[in-house]
Amino acid sequence: MAKILAFSGSTRAGSFNQRLLDIAVAGARESGVEVTEINLNDFPMPIYNQDLEFSEGLPESAAELKQLMLDHKGLLIASPEYNGFPSALLKNTLDWVSRPQASHEPPLFAFRGKIAAVMAASQDQGGGVQGLVSLRILLQNLGVMVVPDQVTLAKAGDAFREDGRLHNHDLKQIIEGLGSELADVLNKMIVRFD
Ligand SMILES: Cc1cc2nc3c(=O)[nH]c(=O)nc-3n(C[C@H](O)[C@H](O)[C@H](O)COP(=O)(O)O)c2cc1C
Repeated sequence: MAKILAFSGSTRAGSFNQRLLDIAVAGARESGVEVTEINLNDFPMPIYNQDLEFSEGLPESAAELKQLMLDHKGLLIASPEYNGFPSALLKNTLDWVSRPQASHEPPLFAFRGKIAAVMAASQDQGGGVQGLVSLRILLQNLGVMVVPDQVTLAKAGDAFREDGRLHNHDLKQIIEGLGSELADVLNKMIVRFD
């Protein structure tokens, strides 16, 4: 059965991207897919430095996350846009996970054959759409297929209630729909290719 690994590029308490992710995760689960939702706070990594990698290898957290990626076919990612790009936390995490642990390991081992859906929430008017353009390019460079649909949420500060739920029910369905679309695509691909 297809499994999805879900994470947010913001670990801020009260992160709007985390809230967006939670809703899409619920949509994917509704479609009968197992989702592992993680918080990147639980996978702390130093800023990537090749001297550090050569002297100490992958940080324990990067190796752990890499193994988790290998155990999941789907990726559900929400990231804030910082100055037009996905968060440094997300980029740094993906950079570490892209590194090989053994000489015989195929390039970008953890990402091959993965299918992803991407989302962004922003307190600004653009909804983080610009950051998703480069996130798509980054994921493509890693060998990940990204479904064409995506969700961006502008003015996120006005969209959520105190309890984390959305004011707008239609919007909730659209976000859940992205999670369920990823689940459906994964199920179809897995039946075909596995
Ligand atoms: C350094 C920095 C740069 C930002 N750049 C953008 C930007 O380019 N576009 C945008 O829509 N919002 C930008 N923002 C606002 C963030 O989208 C907003 O803080 C958002 O809520 C962060 O996501 P989170 O709520 O998941 O932590 C920026 C915020 C910071 C701190």
